[in-house]
Amino acid sequence: MILDGIRTRDQIKAECLPRAQAVYKHTRRPPGLAVILVGSNPASQVYVRNKTKTAGEIGIYTETLSPDPSISTDDLLRLIRILNLRSEIDGILVQLPLPDHIDAQKILLAVAPEKDVDGFHPYNMGLLTTGRAGMRPCTPAGVIEILKRNDIPIAGRNAVVVGRSTIVGKPMALLLLEENATVTVCHSKTADLPGVCRTADILVAAIGRPAMVTADFIRPGAVVVDVGINSITDPQQAVEIFGADNLATFEKRGSQLVGDVHPGDMARLASAYTPVPGGVGPLTIAMLMRNTIEAAERRTGLC
Ligand code: GUN
Repeated sequence: MILDGIRTRDQIKAECLPRAQAVYKHTRRPPGLAVILVGSNPASQVYVRNKTKTAGEIGIYTETLSPDPSISTDDLLRLIRILNLRSEIDGILVQLPLPDHIDAQKILLAVAPEKDVDGFHPYNMGLLTTGRAGMRPCTPAGVIEILKRNDIPIAGRNAVVVGRSTIVGKPMALLLLEENATVTVCHSKTADLPGVCRTADILVAAIGRPAMVTADFIRPGAVVVDVGINSITDPQQAVEIFGADNLATFEKRGSQLVGDVHPGDMARLASAYTPVPGGVGPLTIAMLMRNTIEAAERRTGLC
């Protein structure tokens, strides 16, 4: 079974639409999202464009702020404090990665927790860790959503998360634990990584390395969630991953998207899996929309 992220995203978007309208009816203004994009990382530019486009379709007001890439940490902090104070802005998203000269930890700490629609503020991370309601990071929340909406049982299953990032791996493990999975978190120092991965009923790959998870990591019948979005430009790597038949298509495009899981191995061995593209990527955006609407509802007294 292919876990279709586009279909799930569309369901979540459809659920968001009347809620955004209710915010408007109640307050005479739409839910508002400010997106801060510093620099010209091409992937970030695509992500931000997709986020603001989707928001527009739901009736969320967006404002993209693109300060000069040389902006200092202090000036960026000032920008965020102004957004924190603006009542028509319900959500603030700082697109990562930030340029190296900016202290990203200080920036994420400055976002008002009630407007932290990415769920990256330590306060929201703390709420998640202690099992309290709060803003959940979008990508791992989207993974739980697609599993539930496809009736994939989580409670009592062995879940293995590969990757321990603050954005995906750690919150993913906590959310799976919240759903009563037995959770193992793996990383670059894990001994016998393929062996640990083969214990998984649900395998979540969030490493950021193209097609690193291969057949020897996947127990036949496992559910595999591929969080990776990697763009490869090396023709030889493309042939290794997708086979020689694909070379003409690859050469026409000059690059190809590949997840952290080998696509052929995943399709052959998994009982259900999220494809790349069209799996987890669209869900991240859908959950951002939901977090923004929830922030608006909370801030305007609708819930
Ligand atoms: N960069 C890569 N993924 C994300 C995300 O989910 N949120 C933000 N703000 N930046 C990202």
